[in-house]
Amino acid sequence: MDPLIEAALRARQNAHAPFSGFPVGAAVEDAAGRIHTGCNVENATYGLTVCAERIAVFKAVSEGVRRFTRIAVVADTEVLTPPCGACRQILWELCGDLELILANLEGKTERLRLAELLPRPFDASFIR
Ligand code: THU
Repeated sequence: MDPLIEAALRARQNAHAPFSGFPVGAAVEDAAGRIHTGCNVENATYGLTVCAERIAVFKAVSEGVRRFTRIAVVADTEVLTPPCGACRQILWELCGDLELILANLEGKTERLRLAELLPRPFDASFIR
């Protein structure tokens, strides 16, 4: 199995999802080949919940990483779980048009690019 998917699967085990019961794992690979993981962390207010993808990317950015190549997202769904709209925007601004790997627990996978999920994005190039 792709080590990036394996890392996302492992990260999913750390999910804090008592409200939704929907654990998600993510793993982002940087340009140096290092892997940074995240899981969703929910909050009793609901709205303060942070998705697995954002945790993975924010962890990496906080450690100085600025270039990314791929992200894997794992959830237990037959129709593979894509990043939510907020995460698509964050991923676009911090990672650009990276490769996305969606996977479930049965070994189903799909590869696509972020631009396919977020066509015509708004980003910092408009306000510079
Ligand atoms: N969630 C993620 O972490 N990533 C996704 O791609 C979809 C949704 C989380 C947020 C919340 O904790 C739970 O899944 C249900 O929406």
